[in-house]
Amino acid sequence: MTASIADSGPPPPSNSTADIVVELDEVSREFPGNPPVRALDGASLAIQRGDYVAIIGPSGSGKSTLLHLLGLLDEPTHGVYRLDGIDTRDLTESDRAGLRSSRIGFVFQSFHLLGHRTTVENVMLAEVYRPGTRSTRRKRAEDALRQVGLGHRLDAYPTTLSGGERQRVAVARALVGEPSLLLADEPTGNLDSVTSAQILDLFDDLHHSGLTLAVITHDEDVSERAERKVRINDGTLTEVFR
Ligand SMILES: Nc1ncnc2c1ncn2[C@@H]1O[C@H](COP(=O)(O)OP(=O)(O)OP(=O)(O)O)[C@@H](O)[C@H]1O
Ligand SMILES: [Mg+2]
Repeated sequence: MTASIADSGPPPPSNSTADIVVELDEVSREFPGNPPVRALDGASLAIQRGDYVAIIGPSGSGKSTLLHLLGLLDEPTHGVYRLDGIDTRDLTESDRAGLRSSRIGFVFQSFHLLGHRTTVENVMLAEVYRPGTRSTRRKRAEDALRQVGLGHRLDAYPTTLSGGERQRVAVARALVGEPSLLLADEPTGNLDSVTSAQILDLFDDLHHSGLTLAVITHDEDVSERAERKVRINDGTLTEVFR
């Protein structure tokens, strides 16, 4: 696959402590109930710009809860989450939405593409609320699709694409806003092993181009490809040293 993001994307990796994209400081998420469920329990995590982190854990361990917090879809009940150095505690709902759309690219297990829109239109939809004319948005969408190796399928409809190609469209849609963080939830969950490997090759390319990735997965093959591995068990995070 030819994927290049040489001319775009976030800045290259840095070891500077100031260049932290994600910082969780003793973050907990408790759901009310009798008894309440502490789905995340005093979790601390720092993700540097350019890191590629896999978050792995069994069913019910808190992976989705963590993903929702990282993606600003939910808020901690205790602790602090800083994204690109911004303390997210006191933001209004519209500030959170703005931060989410400008700094986070989501990739899910099911690709969530609109069937009656072409590949390039699906990617452009991610840009509806961003500045720029229709033609600049189209240009950016085309560039993102070339980045994931789909420059030849711009006007195809999702139903005519393979599963792996659909997931690449979803990755292009996540990348088009040049996010600080690509957040993926079981990105290969609906793919066979050959196609999964292609998506993981693409993630490697993106990582080498400086993108910051956090991938939540059950799959050891997926987590083995990441540079760092963090295990989650009963809401507690532990770095896995290899
Ligand atoms: N809205 C909620 N209300 C109450 N409990 C919840 C809620 N969401 C999650 N939980 C509980 O929090 C714990 C962690 O759930 P979470 O969905 O984060 O797990 P997971 O690791 O994503 O699991 P899976 O691999 O099955 O998707 C579980 O015990 C779950 O039942
Ligand atoms: Mg889950």
